[in-house]
Amino acid sequence: MKILVIGGGGREHALAWKLKQSPGVNRIFCAPGNAGTAQIAENVAIPATDLPALARFAKGTHLDLTVVGPDDPLAAGIVDLFVAEKLRVFGPTKSAARIESSKIFAKELMRAQKIPTAKASTFSDSDEALRYCEQLQFPVVIKADGLALGKGVIVAPDSATARSTIDSMMNEGRFGEAGRRILIEEFLRGSECSLHALVDGKNYRLLESARDHKRVFDGDKGPNTGGMGAFSPANNWTPDLQSQLEEEIMPPVLRGLLKEGVTFRGLLYPGLMITSDGLHVLEFNCRFGDPETQAILPRMKSDLLPLLEATIDGKIDNCTIEWDECVTVTIVLASGGYPGKYETGKPISGLDKATKLNDVQIFHAGTRRADGEIVTAGGRVLAVTALGSTMESARIRAYEAVSAIHFDGCHYRRDIALGAVSG
Ligand code: AMP
Ligand code: GLY
Repeated sequence: MKILVIGGGGREHALAWKLKQSPGVNRIFCAPGNAGTAQIAENVAIPATDLPALARFAKGTHLDLTVVGPDDPLAAGIVDLFVAEKLRVFGPTKSAARIESSKIFAKELMRAQKIPTAKASTFSDSDEALRYCEQLQFPVVIKADGLALGKGVIVAPDSATARSTIDSMMNEGRFGEAGRRILIEEFLRGSECSLHALVDGKNYRLLESARDHKRVFDGDKGPNTGGMGAFSPANNWTPDLQSQLEEEIMPPVLRGLLKEGVTFRGLLYPGLMITSDGLHVLEFNCRFGDPETQAILPRMKSDLLPLLEATIDGKIDNCTIEWDECVTVTIVLASGGYPGKYETGKPISGLDKATKLNDVQIFHAGTRRADGEIVTAGGRVLAVTALGSTMESARIRAYEAVSAIHFDGCHYRRDIALGAVSG
């Protein structure tokens, strides 16, 4: 089989790495990929958002399957295009992807289906939003309706921050069209957890739980990022919470989508807040999480390919997914300045040494090859995953691998999974 993975981050490297282990697969392509995917697959120089060029490549290469990593091409309708061209593809259609690409759509659906989520109001007029702020108790959470590279959610601790956020999103176009409409919602307290479900339109299978670390600095300080690290399983996930997810969240969201005439086939990932009052949905994503995927897939014993195929074919009900007993810790190494401005092109050393360590898997994100060496090419540069029998041993191993790797300006969190180490 010939498979294309669309995207060029750590998640896509992990997907390509896992699919490569499938006995049925003999060629994997990544578009555009990175220096890590180039070592296990064939990179194709097509951006993930150039839909017509991707479809032409898929046709010309007689691909058997395309797996879409990022949200942007899904929101732009890549699956609809591929299906129209009779190309086999894993991911939701444009209308199904609205569950992620419009936070207002998702909130209305949750409200209609009584899915537990933060109370919110929607605004398309900035004066109205500003007036609304006068009567609020802080903190509140302000969200751009559309996709904003994971940066469209601002927790406003006071009225001044709320006002300037509203102004920059709605009047100054900080996130372009994505921020013209906003949600102002109740701030929920609790701990977060990421669940992934392979959804075949009707039925679904959950993957193992994981936790992300979204803030840039230790102790959950600083601005939100795309994700600075993850671990799996989540230490705050319990059978009771799983029952709540499977009763109050998964069936209603699929029902709500069907009511809108939308069949969701692909990966649905609810971001959850565990509050004193039970689970609440923070958001729905319509694709694999990054960096959760880099922590989850190394624990998956089952072959991923038949699971993706069954999802597309509406047969996920026939599948069971087997998991390794081990736990994983994933640490993201980022460029100096990320999530703000950063430089690229910094040579990375120590990858060979780190790769040789047992039970360590290095997934590339923002990397490329230049003049024979691997250099930085993005904000999040690498995701280093270590396996262990305990969270403590996995952490030690992950940080040992990280300490072997160097590049100018490299920064990473020292406290990934620290809260999950028992004792
Ligand atoms: P989202 O993109 O909606 O997942 O939001 C990004 C991050 O913002 C989440 O992972 C939370 O840490 C935080 N967040 C979003 N909504 C809320 C909320 N209602 N209350 C507290 N924190 C939130
Ligand atoms: N880990 C956060 C995300 O993938 O959206």
